[in-house]
Amino acid sequence: MLLLLYIYLSLISSGVNVKIMVQIETSSYEETIEYAKKLGSVLKGGEVIAYFGGLGMGKTTFTSGLCEGMGITAEVSSPTFALVNEYGNNKKLYHFDMYRISSFDDLCSTGFFDYLDSNAVLAIEWSENIENALPENYIRIEIEHGKTESSRIFKMSGDKIYEDSWS
Ligand SMILES: Nc1ncnc2c1ncn2[C@@H]1O[C@H](COP(=O)(O)OP(=O)(O)OP(=O)(O)O)[C@@H](O)[C@H]1O
Ligand SMILES: [Mg+2]
Repeated sequence: MLLLLYIYLSLISSGVNVKIMVQIETSSYEETIEYAKKLGSVLKGGEVIAYFGGLGMGKTTFTSGLCEGMGITAEVSSPTFALVNEYGNNKKLYHFDMYRISSFDDLCSTGFFDYLDSNAVLAIEWSENIENALPENYIRIEIEHGKTESSRIFKMSGDKIYEDSWS
């Protein structure tokens, strides 16, 4: 198992809200699922998870692992045409694809702002397109290619309370 773990402790400290950034590298689809499951299992509801990273980087894969970790059984696929897919019953996850969103009106039409006020987890592919509309507190996941075809580097930043699930 290829795993690189760097913890950069605390760039920003605003009040008691300490932010951290963690970088991990996975070497397979399955390993990405395992990491995402750990994060999914500690989500309380209301978190916004914003992915940054291009085609085929593993955003949908990660979301699938999040659902598993939240105890949601679902076939997760990119919501390319629907723009948003809903998963779960008690615990809910809304999975957005913002690839085609280019205006504020487009964004409103996805229901994004209504879902933000709900107690659901929001997982957002192509957050590059809506970065200005993200709330102040969100979990940012930047994904890059590693050295091999199936390696992916995840740079995750957010509240320190999620740190244990990333290491
Ligand atoms: N380490 C890895 N982690 C996740 N996926 C991997 C990894 N290595 C290879 N893959 C492959 O990369 C692809 C990732 O697809 P996925 O749909 O998750 O990407 P995506 O970022 O959602 O793409 P899109 O922007 O097209 O929606 C899958 O085919 C998966 O098998
Ligand atoms: Mg996808």
